[in-house]
Amino acid sequence: MNGVRISGLGSAKPENLVSNTDLSKFVDTSDEWITTRTGIKSRYISSGETAVELAVDAAKVAISDANVNPSEIDLIIVATISPDQMMPSTACCVQSIIGAKNATAFDISAACSGFVFASKIAVDAIRIGSAKKALVIGAEILSKSIDWTDRNTCVLFGDGAGAVIYEKSDVNKIINIYTGSDGTLGQVLTLDHTPINNCLVTTDLSTSYLKMDGREVYKFATSVVPLCINKVLEGTDYSLSSIKKFILHQANERILNSVAKKLGIDDKLLFKNLFEYGNTSAASIPIALDDAKSSLCKGDIIILAGFGGGLTWGSILFEW
Ligand code: COA
Repeated sequence: MNGVRISGLGSAKPENLVSNTDLSKFVDTSDEWITTRTGIKSRYISSGETAVELAVDAAKVAISDANVNPSEIDLIIVATISPDQMMPSTACCVQSIIGAKNATAFDISAACSGFVFASKIAVDAIRIGSAKKALVIGAEILSKSIDWTDRNTCVLFGDGAGAVIYEKSDVNKIINIYTGSDGTLGQVLTLDHTPINNCLVTTDLSTSYLKMDGREVYKFATSVVPLCINKVLEGTDYSLSSIKKFILHQANERILNSVAKKLGIDDKLLFKNLFEYGNTSAASIPIALDDAKSSLCKGDIIILAGFGGGLTWGSILFEW
């Protein structure tokens, strides 16, 4: 089996930063409510930037960081639940723009766990020798799927993209990846449906938006993230005390703090940038990793963990 390491990171965000106070001008909310319930102070919202554009911008930074030529990339996976279109995939659009002519490219859908799921596919492919250099991107323009009159959801999400290059390495740095799903709980967090509308059936095609049972999602998140963290450590030489930084899906500061409390870890070990970005779904973990990199030291043992619609969850244990 081949070793795998992370060789490049990048991220991109739309130009427009929308504060809680900005939101309170058109929906019945306040900076105080959003801050105390979520920790979020602002989010980047597209004023025209597309998922492909953000994915390409993040990918270019990661490619340059890894010092690879796009033609060396043999796998591109984009995790997204808000693609610009279903076909061609976001990954194929990125491939075309960056000139990664030797890559196999496709999208996956695993909501906010998408980056972890895509990373697992890429890392497994490198391990077994079917790829050498993989570009994994989380890219979302969720703002187009939000009901901007629904204060329960519109204050939580933002747009952005993050990218990671995984490559074959003599020394293995990706220690373990754990993923899981439970489709029976899928209805607590849903986004868009495409009803059957064909030559036999006529259906109302009015737009549908992201819908969420916030309390159920909160309960799920605060139980599944500690599980993800313990599971990814299982069978490895590492324990909670080995971990220098926990870079978790940036959904809600209360969820992060509750995870720290349940695990009995110092919450200073949690990386947080949700104040600025809100929840960027599949982009959240790679953006956070890119933002965190200046605070990481060579050899640090890091855990990434995500959870989201599906329901889905997953974690990555790696050495920086
Ligand atoms: N501004 C002001 N009031 C709001 C509001 C907003 N943006 N959103 C909801 N409220 C109101 C509700 O209408 C409710 O009012 P009511 O009691 O008069 O009906 C009240 O605030 C309390 O709502 P509640 O649902 O009890 O709040 P909460 O403490 O559970 O916090 C969330 C709500 C959404 C912040 C919380 O449940 C959460 O974080 N859930 C997880 C969401 C998540 O992470 N989703 C993405 C997963 S990938």
